Amino acid sequence: MPRLTEQEQQEIIRFIEADKPLPDKYRFLLFEDKREVELVWNGKTSEVCSIVLPFQVIEQVDEPRAEKPEDVKRKDKDQEFLFSLDERGRQLKGWTNKLIWGDNKLILSSLKNGPLREEIEKQGGLKLIYIDPPFDVGADFSMDIEIPSSVPPSLGGNRGETFTKKPNILEEIAYRDTWGKGADSFISMIYERLVLMRDLLAEDGSIYVHCDWRVTGFLRMVMDEIFGKDRIIGELIWKHQIMGGAHGRRLPKAHETILWFKKGNAFKINEKSPEVRVPFSDYVRDTMQQDSEGRWFYTRRRMSRKATDSERESKAHTITYVDDPEKGTLASDVWDDFPSYQPKPIDNTKYPTQKPNELLERIIGSGTYEGDLVADFFCGSGTTAAVAEKLGRKWIVTDLGKFAIHTTRKRLIGVQRQLKADGKDYRAFEILNLGKYERQHYIGVNPNLREEE
Ligand SMILES: C[S@@+](CC[C@H](N)C(=O)[O-])C[C@H]1O[C@@H](n2cnc3c(N)ncnc32)[C@H](O)[C@@H]1O
Repeated sequence: MPRLTEQEQQEIIRFIEADKPLPDKYRFLLFEDKREVELVWNGKTSEVCSIVLPFQVIEQVDEPRAEKPEDVKRKDKDQEFLFSLDERGRQLKGWTNKLIWGDNKLILSSLKNGPLREEIEKQGGLKLIYIDPPFDVGADFSMDIEIPSSVPPSLGGNRGETFTKKPNILEEIAYRDTWGKGADSFISMIYERLVLMRDLLAEDGSIYVHCDWRVTGFLRMVMDEIFGKDRIIGELIWKHQIMGGAHGRRLPKAHETILWFKKGNAFKINEKSPEVRVPFSDYVRDTMQQDSEGRWFYTRRRMSRKATDSERESKAHTITYVDDPEKGTLASDVWDDFPSYQPKPIDNTKYPTQKPNELLERIIGSGTYEGDLVADFFCGSGTTAAVAEKLGRKWIVTDLGKFAIHTTRKRLIGVQRQLKADGKDYRAFEILNLGKYERQHYIGVNPNLREEE
């Protein structure tokens, strides 16, 4: 039987001649690739950006080492072996972390298809991506910034000044093109970027997508499609303190969803990482005991009391051996052990959407091993970079906002200084930009953008 009846063929011709869109049913009749369940939106396409723009190095930041060369020789002698330093103490060789300013679509396609790809692969590939894309983007591009007074209020100074930072032209374009039309444009924006991220990720790498609750459902379908339904590692729930009033319309919001997918089957959770371990419950601790060889174990049934020898021998209980009770157990997929939504005062950059370090510690700890390369293409205040540096991972982070780049730069200099003061390893980082070429690219594709803008 032909796929289309004579009548249907005539109907299609009539629609085309009248320059009208075809009825929905033809989507399934005309195309070869029939997916059982698929998310479709206006303008969906499988084409992804393949442009390669050159990165310009704006600055190399190796602050504490560059400050006092005499200290370098004394304190950083272990690092000389790791990184190779010049006589001023600057890192010469080895991987340099990257803070990149620009639109992540162009950055991703330039990383994927350009010369930096080889450098990434030499480091063993990109092992983890965390993204926290904004849905209500106004919160990030137009914000109130407080400039603290030089004399603190405790010493009689005033509270400093607040000014509203207006979005720049590239931020405005991002807003118009990607968020201006609601969920439709958000999904097409993220779809293309997620395809590029998948292509850049190592075969044994994984990706965490922090979802805005208004688009979690869409994102799950998009991830299933791009990575494959069988590639989901987990749907993580971060249970935090109650955020905002509901005023009778919904229940108070107290959790966030993070989707975790792997690229290929070679991925392995780092179960030994202390960041992914939590203490045993009191219940388990109370029933834990040692066998005649000194091994710790607990039993899974009748937990209200310790199993007797005969119960254990008759296998009435499942016995779980524990290497070291002090090292706790693997966290579940509900994370409720760091409830504060606010970053700790010591980490707080006042960036409006900053996430607490503890969240990124669990993410980076569970998804990578020391020395691995991690990335965040919507880095905001640089939480991923700050935590990666402290946990001895290499990093690439990017943001479109100038204020985000400034905040991350300042924060990472602070992290370098702290690590140096603690006598620990740290890496240099460079600030890169696609700026000049990016503007030219936009002038080429966006007729509404004048050169002087
Ligand atoms: C929700 S915030 C991320 C906050 C971050 N997780 C933290 O802890 O600070 C999202 C960030 O994405 C950035 N962004 C939005 N669109 C972007 C784009 N097209 N390319 C790069 N960054 C973008 C915004 O500037 C904002 O800083």
